[in-house]
This record gives sequence, C-alpha cells and structure tokens, in this order.
Amino acid sequence: MHDERRSVLHSWSVQADWNAPTVVGGKGAYLHLEDGRQVLDFSSLAECSNLGHQHPQLVAAIRAQAGRLCFVTNAWGAAPRAELAARLLELAGFDGGRVFFTTGGAQANEHAVKIVRQALRRPRGWLVARDRSYHGATHLAMALSGDARTTAHVDAAALGVAHVPPPYAYRCPWRSASAAECGERAAAAVGERIDALGADHVAAVMIEPDAGSNGIVAPDNYWTALRRETAARGIVLIADEVMSAFGRCGEWFAWQRHGDAGRPDAMTLAKGLTGASVPLGAVVLSAALAARLEHEVLQTGLTYCGHPLACAAGVAALAAYESEGLITRSKALGAEMRAALEAMQARHPVIGDVRGGHGLFVVVELVADRGTRAPLAAWPATPPALAALTRAALDEGVSFATRGNLLLLAPPLVIRENEIAGALALLDRLLARFFPSEARPAA
Ligand SMILES: Cc1ncc(COP(=O)(O)O)c(C=O)c1O
Repeated sequence: MHDERRSVLHSWSVQADWNAPTVVGGKGAYLHLEDGRQVLDFSSLAECSNLGHQHPQLVAAIRAQAGRLCFVTNAWGAAPRAELAARLLELAGFDGGRVFFTTGGAQANEHAVKIVRQALRRPRGWLVARDRSYHGATHLAMALSGDARTTAHVDAAALGVAHVPPPYAYRCPWRSASAAECGERAAAAVGERIDALGADHVAAVMIEPDAGSNGIVAPDNYWTALRRETAARGIVLIADEVMSAFGRCGEWFAWQRHGDAGRPDAMTLAKGLTGASVPLGAVVLSAALAARLEHEVLQTGLTYCGHPLACAAGVAALAAYESEGLITRSKALGAEMRAALEAMQARHPVIGDVRGGHGLFVVVELVADRGTRAPLAAWPATPPALAALTRAALDEGVSFATRGNLLLLAPPLVIRENEIAGALALLDRLLARFFPSEARPAA
C-alpha cells in the first residue's frame, strides 16, 4: 500500500503533521479502517454522508449506470440528469425552474452567483454574505465565506462581496436580550447593508438558512425576516443548502421549515445530494430567474456538468431518503439528540450552549466559564483538551468533528438509536475526564 503522507496535499492540514487512518470500507454509520478497526462516524465525514457508508441502493445504482453509460457531456441529453432535475424542482416546489449541475458545493455557489448576475444583467453586482459562514474553497466561494480560514487569503471586496454580522444568538453582535431579537437585528443588518450599497448595485444575498460548519444556528425568526428584507428591496436570496439539505436540518431543504415565507429565489446543493457517493452539486433556480435566461446563451459550462454517474447516484439517493423515511427520522432523532445534550449540559459546566437539532445536526459550544460565557480558546483555535477528547473518542471507536470550541454532532441519518446513545454516553464520560467540573465550577 502506498503511503499518501508523502504524496498527497491534504485539505486544511499541516502536511508534515497529517497522520489520519486509512479507510478501506464502511457499512451504515461505520467506517472500516485499514488496521481492522470499525469507527462510528458521528459527523457523516464532512456532514455529507447522510445515507451512511456504502448504502446498497446507491452502490447498485452507480453500478447499473456505469454498465449503461458512464459519461456524456452537457451538450447531449442524459436520462438520469433529466430525472434528477425534475425531482429536485418537484421536491422544492420550484415549478418552471431550472437546475444547473456542478461537481460540488463551492462550484454550485460560484455558478449561482454567475447565473444570477447574468440573469439580472449586473455582472459586477454586489454580493452580501455573512461572517461565520462557509461557502467553499474556490476563490469566489472563499470571498463569500465569512470564515477565519479563508478571509486572510482573499480580497472579498475586490470580488464584490460585502459581509454582515451573523445571527449568533449566544454571542449576539448587537448584545440582544433574546434569540428572536438577535435574529431580527441580523436580518435588518442585511437590509441596511443593501441600502448602503444601493439596491440597484446588489446582485444577491447568499446565506446558509440553518446550521453551518462555523457553528452558527440561525434563530427561528431569522430566515423569514431575511426573506422579508430582501424581497422588500427586490434582491435575490440564494440559500446555500450544501450542508443543511437532505434531512440534515429535518427537511428536504432547510428553508422549508418556514414554508412559503422562507422560499428563496435560488438554492445551492451538494453533499447529501448523492449521499456523497459521487461528487455532485447543483444550482436550483426559481421560474422567474430561469425565465430571464431562456433566450440567451448561458455564459458558463463544465465538462462534467450533470455527469450521468453522479446524477444516477442522486436519483438513487432521493429514492433512499424517501423510501426509508429518513427526512422525518432525522427530525425526530435530532430533537432527541438535542434533549440528551441539554441533559448533559446540566452535568458539565463546560457546556455553554447547545443549539440546532432541527435534524441530526447539533452544535455544542464549550466555554471556560458558563456565567461570563468566556470561550475556552479564542476562535478559531481548538482547545487542547478538546483535541485530546476527540483523540480518546477515536481510540474508543467514535469519530467526533470539532471546530474551535465547538463539537459538531451530525451522524448519518441511517444511524441506529442505540448507536447514538452509545456515542453520547462516551461523550458524557470523556467530558467528565477531560473537563472535570471541580476545575470549572458552574455559574
Ligand atoms: C454550507 C456549505 N457551502 C459550501 C460548501 C463547499 O462545498 P464543497 O466542499 O463541496 O465545495 C460547504 C462545505 O463544507 C458547506 O458546508
């Protein structure tokens, strides 16, 4: 077996320190490692393997499509592409809309911007995005992201991106007294920024509608308030649903929790679209936006746009979510997981906040002092004790994802109830071991 430590550049890693185990297979919520160990995946890898690993229906669909037709460019038609586009428009209730396929989330966001700018005839129109967000690692997607890892490496303003503060209710930028007030204030800030830039010079607002990898979970009133602020000014709202869709936040698409009052003009998808089995992203456009492009050349293209293997995996993934009732299952299990973590919070003063749980995505924020909400480490640094906790968890067979002071709990939607209970019991034990409460008295 070749050692990739010497040959591969690994994302978001110090190359010389990279030393992760090699995965050789998987089943359900488990990953199988080269050394024979089985690890319970409590983050769906990058919050993307919503259907678990090696889902049999997905594997069969990819195999069958490979036997028929592996590839044809977007210049020609392909049956799985047509079927997937129709299903997505139907699930979103975007009648008369259109879908542009990409190979991942960053590309979907790039293309959403390009397509909307073309439709509006505002090639240099401003984009309003949010701090503490993540939209991908291509150049424009980095500029859109309000992420500590990306902001230093890109000139956002030069690429036409303006940022607004996040709806971070636990540490509200406006020191609001309640989550609802923070949500309202954060949405109003988007409207104010559009006014300051001049609505005629703005192309779109791009925001994640629910939970994201930077640990923000928008207050319940935020998204509809944002829709109101953008609609009042005639501004296109793009929901980045790359992470939040396909059951992760308890709905097919997270905005659907708010019904029609939360309907965006466009949304971007990837990750769970194929259960991560084959790379695929998509931009889903409303009928009104699609109509503006109907009689002119679309000024973009990708060799792998709507790749048949990926689209066949997408069709099979949607069928699996539906036939196994995974969207509603995620909603029920997410609520239970949040309740269990809130119960754990009573035992562990180090847990400052528990948020999310609209689906199987709960964010746990650790603090040095619950009374003052002093962070354990300055964002985005990971506190050493939390790093030690995740290493110990892996030794005991569970993989937890962290960002800074946060634990991001997002297992595959096919995980069994007893597997969730086992992982949470392990977390409970490890929190007691690495953050003993006598050292950190409760407020
Ligand atoms: C909300 C969101 N948007 C975009 C992306 C980028 O997707 P990709 O890594 O497929 O380019 C991610 C990835 O984590 C994401 O979470």
